[in-house]
Amino acid sequence: MTVINKQSSLEEILSHVWNMLNHGNMDKQHPYRYPALATYGSEGIQQRTVVLRAVDTAQRTLTTYSDLRTQKVADLSFHPQASWLFYDQQAQEQIRVSSQVAIHHQDKQAMEIWQKIPLKGRADYIGPHPPGASFQHHIANLPADFMEEPNEENTAPGIEHFCLLQAKVQSIEFLKLMKDGHLRAGFIWQQKSWGSRWIAP
Ligand SMILES: Cc1cc2nc3c(=O)[nH]c(=O)nc-3n(C[C@H](O)[C@H](O)[C@H](O)COP(=O)(O)O)c2cc1C
Repeated sequence: MTVINKQSSLEEILSHVWNMLNHGNMDKQHPYRYPALATYGSEGIQQRTVVLRAVDTAQRTLTTYSDLRTQKVADLSFHPQASWLFYDQQAQEQIRVSSQVAIHHQDKQAMEIWQKIPLKGRADYIGPHPPGASFQHHIANLPADFMEEPNEENTAPGIEHFCLLQAKVQSIEFLKLMKDGHLRAGFIWQQKSWGSRWIAP
């Protein structure tokens, strides 16, 4: 893995960013696996932790999964712009991503992924109540028969709620904290290629 230092070029930094995002996607222990995703909607700007489910460098996409009934999906259906924040404490690196998000629900892409989600993993999409609904007492929001034993039948309703949030990356900002002056760089997609610049940290 490349170590970024003062001699690194902008090209090397951009390549490092995508490598690390890919690494974060594949390594469940890596902090980039759990970015904060910010959206804008009726509750103003909201952030939440999500799982980075896929990274495609050539297509410039980042993907996460969600329940169609969540606030973030409502936000994105009106304002598709979303910001992702990644922080690697060990490397002292921060990656900030601006993107435009497409919601895939019950289309070919969503159906293909749904089939591959283990039965237990479908728990996040089969709540009888919409995520975010209010109660006077704690609820797990899982059907009783699913709690007993997840199967194809009791997880089937999840297909109505499951969606892929696929973000097309528009710009990236990289920051690395360093003892003798930090390093900060920005990248913007310009139709066919990445424009890049150094930024004052
Ligand atoms: C470690 C962790 C990972 C999470 N991953 C996801 C995820 O991939 N997708 C998701 O919709 N919510 C995920 N959540 C839950 C969200 O952070 C959030 O609480 C929930 O989606 C409701 O958010 P919203 O009401 O802003 O839409 C995760 C939470 C934690 C703590």
